[in-house]
Amino acid sequence: MRLRDVEPADLDAYLRMRCDPQMMAELGGPLPPEGMAAKVARDVASAAADRDWIKMIALEDDATAGTVTLWNHELDGRAFSEIGWMVLPEYQGRGLAKQAVAAVLGLAAADGRWGLVHAFPATTNGPSNGICRSLGFSLLGEREVLFAGRSLRTSHWVFDTAPAAPPASAVPGGPGGGGGG
Ligand SMILES: CC(C)(COP(=O)(O)OP(=O)(O)OC[C@H]1O[C@@H](n2cnc3c(N)ncnc32)[C@H](O)[C@@H]1OP(=O)(O)O)[C@@H](O)C(=O)NCCC(=O)NCCS
Repeated sequence: MRLRDVEPADLDAYLRMRCDPQMMAELGGPLPPEGMAAKVARDVASAAADRDWIKMIALEDDATAGTVTLWNHELDGRAFSEIGWMVLPEYQGRGLAKQAVAAVLGLAAADGRWGLVHAFPATTNGPSNGICRSLGFSLLGEREVLFAGRSLRTSHWVFDTAPAAPPASAVPGGPGGGGGG
């Protein structure tokens, strides 16, 4: 598995992911195909500007298996990082989503700008809640969120990508740090 930025040729994958009743069962139902070309164009531009990260999951044979998206928006009047993911049906159940989400969180931690990353899988989404749990997200509770204009009952998970503060003993002048000279 490798991650690559979204490209205009990903329209077909977008249609299969976002306009399919099975893929969208936990996301309020399929979206209309009419808006997808514009959505891909917006995502390509956003990725090219390094504003949002819209990563496609690519396999050894270059087949596209799914996507992981990390983006910034406002919630409750505050800047907010959110992550979401999708894997096409024929590639599900082999650990790809978990591996790709872990990889994006690792890149986000190295990048340093994303801080607390929030995820809102529907409370009934077994695999997605499993991914959050097993990758070390913390569960904050349940919350209604709007996704593409539809209200969903979700689990609110958060993962901290901010660099950990160094232990006090490693800070010059800190306890046991041996500084001060
Ligand atoms: C959610 C989704 C991305 C999972 O993709 P996937 O590649 O099949 O997931 P993985 O194989 O990485 O499995 C993830 C974890 O879920 C677990 N899992 C799989 N199916 C499960 C189920 N029905 N109930 C509970 N856990 C389940 C797996 O065992 C794995 O956990 P583990 O590694 O601790 O064993 C995929 O089903 C999907 O795209 N669904 C439609 C779109 C969607 O709902 N996206 C999420 C929006 S938040």
